[in-house]
Amino acid sequence: MTEDRAAALAAIAEQVRTCTRCPLYIGTTNAVPGAGSVNAEIMFIGEGPGFNEDKQGLPFVGRSGDYLVYLLKLIGLSRDDVFIGNVVKHRPPENRDPMPDEILACKPYLDQQVDIIQPLVIATLGRFSMARYFPDGKISRIHGQPKYDNTRAYYPLFHPAAVLRNPDLRKEMEADFKRIPEIIEKVKQTRGSSKPAAPPPVAEEKPEEPPKQLKLF
Ligand code: URA
Repeated sequence: MTEDRAAALAAIAEQVRTCTRCPLYIGTTNAVPGAGSVNAEIMFIGEGPGFNEDKQGLPFVGRSGDYLVYLLKLIGLSRDDVFIGNVVKHRPPENRDPMPDEILACKPYLDQQVDIIQPLVIATLGRFSMARYFPDGKISRIHGQPKYDNTRAYYPLFHPAAVLRNPDLRKEMEADFKRIPEIIEKVKQTRGSSKPAAPPPVAEEKPEEPPKQLKLF
């Protein structure tokens, strides 16, 4: 039932708000558990909260978020139609990259969110969420190429912030986004309208080569 699933999602959000599994919570204002519809057909997974997200406790509410909302509008969707989460749920200091042990500590929350929502499509935003499903993937090479299994599609996309930094990527990002409805349809045809009872095959625990860290604490 939708109510039970929504309650399960809310319970995870509550755990995230008091989470001390890694040191990232230290010095933050708010945890950012993720937001959106428990019935979302598509789930977007970003990297981690930034300044504005930390202030509001909501994902993608800064400039990257404005661009994400613009992209969603291109395909007739709003934030409320989708679920937006992150690989880490507290803001890394000075917006540095999340570290492999922080991603691992936060993984059970994201895994459970995926299991509850059972989205038809998981769209990864940037290389840290991409590494969950495409451990050997290079974003510049595989963006816009969905990978299907029996239950869903995994769809690697550039991170909106990367596109804002490099407007040359805009065309490709928008073209990739415009393929989303067709990918959702394709999964619907194979999956049918019902949500599967069992969780989908879980991605590898750890990418063989964890994303490179640029800065440390
Ligand atoms: N960038 C992310 O990866 N996630 C957010 O929530 C905001 C910006």
